[in-house]
Amino acid sequence: MDNRPFRSVLYIPGSKERALEKARTLAADAIIFDLEDAVAAGEKHNARELLARVLGEADYGPRAKLVRINGFDTEWAEADLEVIAQARPEAILLPKVGSAADVLALAERLERRAETAETLIWAMMETPQGIINAAEIAAAPRMAGFVMGTNDLAKELNCRYRADRLALQHALQACLMAARAQGLVAVDGVYNAFKDEDGLRAECEQGRDLGFDGKTLIHPAQLAIANEVFAPDAAAIELARRQIEAFEEAEARGEGVAVVDGRIVENLHIVTARAVLARAAAIERLQEAM
Ligand code: COA
Ligand code: MG
Repeated sequence: MDNRPFRSVLYIPGSKERALEKARTLAADAIIFDLEDAVAAGEKHNARELLARVLGEADYGPRAKLVRINGFDTEWAEADLEVIAQARPEAILLPKVGSAADVLALAERLERRAETAETLIWAMMETPQGIINAAEIAAAPRMAGFVMGTNDLAKELNCRYRADRLALQHALQACLMAARAQGLVAVDGVYNAFKDEDGLRAECEQGRDLGFDGKTLIHPAQLAIANEVFAPDAAAIELARRQIEAFEEAEARGEGVAVVDGRIVENLHIVTARAVLARAAAIERLQEAM
């Protein structure tokens, strides 16, 4: 996994031309161009054609671009892939992945076309089967990231919404574990109440504290909070610098452990401190490129 930021991953319905246009200037680290659940059945054809055209023409700058196609158990998936392939997508996000076989089936189709020879695969983790098989899915060919589909998962589990997402914790952590075991990016699910800033912030903080790289978002008003919460803040950067400095001084004295703010700092903490600084630098580079 490189340091490419995925703090804010914005869904845009492939049928909404205005939103597709607007996204070129929004502060999203990544965009999910959606052909699946955000597009009504009667709109699938138009959305696919519109999206292929937009992806071929519009410049989204340094934002990562994922296209969520419909699943291969629907009548739309083959045509989605056929049309979207022409735009040489950098990644396809596959919904409702249940096992590594689902990923393999897509990988084989990508291999058949020159346009998709390099295309990566991301998986929506949103079914009980998928959560149970998270480890083999993460290890499947071309896999680059997981997106938690918490709305679908809650529906399947028949659990109730709670601010602490108690019922989803097992799935969130199982997927994060599987993603980290394979060096994949892991992005948390959406927060539906897009006008509730405090609720969004709390959920972003929970996802960040669990280890997620960022959050999927449904509305531009959610971008700033996700970008802030999933970036190392000034205090974290300052602490990382002091830890590195203290550790290097300890090493110069021939010692392997330093103490900063009453806590021990060992080599493994320095790895984390350097990662914090690298992440902050990557975010700065991305923002300059936007
Ligand atoms: N991406 C980019 N731009 C978006 C956007 C999105 N997801 N959602 C809204 N916008 C734009 C609108 O086009 C509008 O732009 P304009 O004022 O310049 O014309 C502006 O942001 C304000 O939109 P607003 O009127 O507040 O939202 P809405 O009431 O039109 O739509 C939603 C609300 C939730 C229906 C809409 O945000 C949406 O479709 N979100 C994505 C849903 C989705 O993809 N779901 C699938 C995954 S869970
Ligand atoms: Mg879903």
